[in-house]
Amino acid sequence: MSDSGPDIKYLFEPRSIAVIGASQSKDKIGHKILENILVSGYKGKVYPINPQGGEILGVKTCKSIDEIDGEIDLAAIAIPAKLVFETVKVCPRKKTKFLAVITSGFSEVGNLEEERKMVEFSRGNGMRVLGPNIFGIYSSVAPVNATFGPKDILAGNVAIITQSGALGIGMIGKTAVEKIGLSAMVSVGNKSDIDEADLLQYLVQDPGTRIIMMYIEGIKEGERFIEMVKQATIKKPVIVLKAGRSRRGAIAAASHTGSLAGSDAIFDAVMKQCGVMRAESMEDAFSWIKFLANAPAPKGENTVIITNGGGIGVMATDACEKYGVKLYDNQAVLNKIFKPVTPDFGSFKNPVDLTGQANSKLYNAALDAALNNENIDTVISLYCETAVFDAENLPEMIESSQKKYREKQKPLAFSIFGGKSTENALDILRQRGVHAFADVYEAVSSLGALYAHFHYLKNYSGSVDDAEIDVSAIESIIDHVRKDNRLFLLINEAQAVMRAANILAPRSAVAGSLDSAVKAAEGIGYPLVMKIVSKDIVHKSDVGGVALDLLNKGEVIDAYEAIIHNCRRFKPEAVIEGVEISEMVKPGLETIVGARRDSVFGPIIMFGSGGKYVEVMKDVSFRALPLNRRQILNMIEGIRSYPILLGVRGENRKDVDALVDAVIKLAAVIMKCRGISDIEVNPLIAYDQGQGVKAVDIRILLSKP
Ligand code: ACO
Repeated sequence: MSDSGPDIKYLFEPRSIAVIGASQSKDKIGHKILENILVSGYKGKVYPINPQGGEILGVKTCKSIDEIDGEIDLAAIAIPAKLVFETVKVCPRKKTKFLAVITSGFSEVGNLEEERKMVEFSRGNGMRVLGPNIFGIYSSVAPVNATFGPKDILAGNVAIITQSGALGIGMIGKTAVEKIGLSAMVSVGNKSDIDEADLLQYLVQDPGTRIIMMYIEGIKEGERFIEMVKQATIKKPVIVLKAGRSRRGAIAAASHTGSLAGSDAIFDAVMKQCGVMRAESMEDAFSWIKFLANAPAPKGENTVIITNGGGIGVMATDACEKYGVKLYDNQAVLNKIFKPVTPDFGSFKNPVDLTGQANSKLYNAALDAALNNENIDTVISLYCETAVFDAENLPEMIESSQKKYREKQKPLAFSIFGGKSTENALDILRQRGVHAFADVYEAVSSLGALYAHFHYLKNYSGSVDDAEIDVSAIESIIDHVRKDNRLFLLINEAQAVMRAANILAPRSAVAGSLDSAVKAAEGIGYPLVMKIVSKDIVHKSDVGGVALDLLNKGEVIDAYEAIIHNCRRFKPEAVIEGVEISEMVKPGLETIVGARRDSVFGPIIMFGSGGKYVEVMKDVSFRALPLNRRQILNMIEGIRSYPILLGVRGENRKDVDALVDAVIKLAAVIMKCRGISDIEVNPLIAYDQGQGVKAVDIRILLSKP
């Protein structure tokens, strides 16, 4: 949906709310919503609406919306589905801006028409629809809790958008237990109108929101979503928890790019590209939120582990490698900082091991030493329960050191492990809203999330690189193919597209007769490859439609006759355009590039290790377009076999610059030539540095008219 309509601010900061379906019955949703609004400290006007009138929870109730004196910013609707549209129709009379349709029973159960009508009417009358099928909205700035979830929401700086109602209500409970303060909690349900992108528009600029988390099941308007998410991540960390990892096959497997993509692989890649951190589990998501909501942004990457146990220190070191946290290793500086505060038998290497000898005094001294040294940016502090450590001082030590670190703008992640006294400490800290992790990996993965955002901001560039391609030449090829009632290009047409995009393809020609085959062969030179050209024969080599390594005129004549004979025998009714005669290309490293128009995210590009094992190896990476050179290089560097492109065991480095160029050109084709839905080059052969690339097998599909 477009972003026209009322200012989204009034959804989060409504000046007046009507609760349509407010009820005396305490167990009804309309009652709970009204009650939550009233107890949340909402200062605006509240209008319960119920045909019986009277008073509900001490508030005068209107029999209908017409009795309201004034305008409505937000109408929460909690009446049965069959009554909703009629009610929506009267809402414009009070200049209603937003409808929060709590009611279930719309598109989620197949009732698409009712939902469509409601949205169409609303948009046509200046209103926007949140939901239907939602639990409501909480916003700390109003403050207002217009949900039928728990009452005890702690105000804070975390905004959560959720597509699942039940999970969202669970998340409210979890945030209360974990003492995570919320700036907003919005249930989007069926997303008939308002979606994540609309809500991000408010949350990105909301000073009260420091971090945004979204639980997503599916994206409707991917291109708009990408645009808004990019705006969000340059200002604040965004975490996504997405269900539905295995929606493979949702994309027609017309090409490798399609079948390799699967919608989730694309989602994953696009989120990374936009600087969004994707959590695998609720536990990860909540750990990250808790940490990021309080931690200052790091100034640099020098991280030190301080521990009183060697084993846990090694685990943290492993975790740092896994989550991209860099350990500081200037030994001279480490000695200077930690020697005065570490027992002689300890270690000043990173991890700094204070040993089982450490008590809170020694620990505090080490933490202070790290805090006061400007070479150290971040500290991971680990504690294992020992009899020597004065555990009763643990909560105080953690709370005060976190405060000091925050004041000095240094992230500090604490992980503590042990028995009863440690559990007690964790409980005390949780009640005080102070965060410590029970597990080392959780601590480091949260720090990893902080650094993922740090790296994203450091490398961020909004620039885009473009290539000059001959769009009109490509469009006339497309016209010709359409006139021929085809949705795919024959090889000679595909090669012409490559030429128009300035991508080198093998010299070739299509011959419709033996004579012209011989003439073409003599013109191109030997060795040659010959292949059948027919839209009715897809797996050419399986039916004897391909001949390789032809060295002279005689071999070309034999091959031509054999290919035609084999293909006629295989499919007598096949329409044969001719035989392609093509230069036999020098071997090089086989890569694959695919560009396609994704139904959700728009134009996307794939790069990977190519050849016939591409679907087995699945060594590919994706990005949404447009991109700049640096981002394309980053995509190329992201495949597992990237070191092969750099040359292994004495091989030369391949022409990575030429690969980047080819990707930019194919990206330009898919973005500028809208008739094309899919391009795949496999293999795109990469030669040694300076020798370029060659597009060998090219497959181009057109979008349905
Ligand atoms: N204007 C105002 N009030 C009206 C109107 C109207 N046009 N029509 C009816 N009402 C009143 C009713 O008289 C009733 O009040 P009463 O108790 O005084 O009689 C009140 O509105 C509610 O109507 P009911 O018919 O009693 O409906 P009920 O409350 O049982 O259910 C509801 C309505 C909650 C919207 C239900 O249809 C529904 O959709 N429930 C599911 C909600 C849900 O789960 N949403 C997703 C949340 S996310 C998650 O999964 C947790």
